[in-house]
Amino acid sequence: MYTPSAVVLVLLHLGLRSRGAPQDLASKGKVQCTCKSMECDSATCLGYLCYFTVAEGQERRGCFDLDGEQLQCVSLPKVYTKCCSSDHCNANITAPGDTADDRTAVLVTMPVLALLVLSVGLAGFIWCWRKRQAKRYQREDDGVIVPKASSKDEPTYGDMFDEFCTSGSGTGLPYLVQRTVARQIMLVECVGKGRYGEVWRGTWMGENVAVKIFSSRDEQSWFRETEIYNTVQLQHENILGFIGSDMTSKNSSTQLWLITHFHEPGSLFDVLQHRSLTPDSCLTMCLSAASGLVHLHTPILGMQGKPAIAHRDLKSRNILVKKNGQCCIADLGLAVMQCETGDYLDIGNNPRVGTKRYMAPEVLDETIQTDQFASYKQTDIWALGLVLWEISRRTVVNGIVEEYRPPFFDLVPSDPSFEQMKKVVCVDQQTPSLHNRLHSHPILAAITKVMKECWFQDPKARPTALRLRKTLSKLDQDIDHELHKLKLDL
Ligand code: ADE
Repeated sequence: MYTPSAVVLVLLHLGLRSRGAPQDLASKGKVQCTCKSMECDSATCLGYLCYFTVAEGQERRGCFDLDGEQLQCVSLPKVYTKCCSSDHCNANITAPGDTADDRTAVLVTMPVLALLVLSVGLAGFIWCWRKRQAKRYQREDDGVIVPKASSKDEPTYGDMFDEFCTSGSGTGLPYLVQRTVARQIMLVECVGKGRYGEVWRGTWMGENVAVKIFSSRDEQSWFRETEIYNTVQLQHENILGFIGSDMTSKNSSTQLWLITHFHEPGSLFDVLQHRSLTPDSCLTMCLSAASGLVHLHTPILGMQGKPAIAHRDLKSRNILVKKNGQCCIADLGLAVMQCETGDYLDIGNNPRVGTKRYMAPEVLDETIQTDQFASYKQTDIWALGLVLWEISRRTVVNGIVEEYRPPFFDLVPSDPSFEQMKKVVCVDQQTPSLHNRLHSHPILAAITKVMKECWFQDPKARPTALRLRKTLSKLDQDIDHELHKLKLDL
């Protein structure tokens, strides 16, 4: 079910590294191609295939010099690609529609094609409609068609995935499209900088995109995140949306990009610095963050399924705030996956560890059962509790709000050491303090109760993400219900 992308990634990796290799090496069986693109060192290149591609009116000509790259010789809705295999055969290729002959052909074939597409579309629509009806209704023994009874009000994950019109194994676009998109992005402004590298706002086809440029020492995070997004169906409103990954080689240094949706408000950490919240907006943030974590943690079986994933570096800097006030979870560079059958743990091979401030007691005292997938989910829950605490502090109750502070701000210095955190969290068993005002509001009182449960020393005693989401969504429904009653009373 999960297509191993490692092979493709390694091919990509080798392909990019081999681009700078001298042309007289291993030139047997290769052809000379015309080279006209940003990647060209000269007007010609040597490869197994020559390509011509047009995207967004921009033409590129060059070589594919890797076995497997011929997979990219396909045209996509916005990207026309043609490959050929004789010397300079790509020199004079033009995009269809460029010549008078082409135009005549288009005039003749278009109506036929349109008719064909229309009939196929109509047939598809009727088929989908009947399938949908069949799902919603059932034929009783007496032949009468009645609506199917539903066991729960909430749709199942299977139902939700049926709704997505996705194809392929992962979230991403085909690899050549990812590369094409990456090379058409204009970087506009740097919106974040850290040990991991930089995040830029860029534009592609007039739309904002976020570009995370990884520092070379964190290349394993790029590999891991790229692998996960390309192999796992991760579309969810509370998981950062993936557009593509790209690796380029410039002056013998490697640039690693991860392109995602751009969220104007920025990270939760940034937003909490300058924005105070109402109890309602606090609940929206907490519930949406929990929903994102449920999606990560939950395995989904079947063709459109996904493995269970634990994040391992959940914190307010790795959560983004969307315009609608909901959160989405970002940075899968340290994530671990559990295979479908549950008997194999894919830990990856990233030397990076999670952020010390957010580490659970069992990580700090090294008693964590590293061979159990459940252990990693339990550490995510500890960290989520800390994020809920950060959000709650910024919520106005009885006219009172606290300033933004990171968890354990009063107990450890900035950039605390492993030992400092261990003393506070394991030896002294401290948890963040909670302001009295929080107990006087039903939403904040409930969130406070939830976060205290996230901080149980015993990892197994902590609630699951699903339990947490249920508690928070019940709270949300109760509030809607109360509002509705209030409206009726008025
Ligand atoms: N900061 C980090 N990632 C971001 C994104 N995707 N959108 C906006 N700001 C960000």
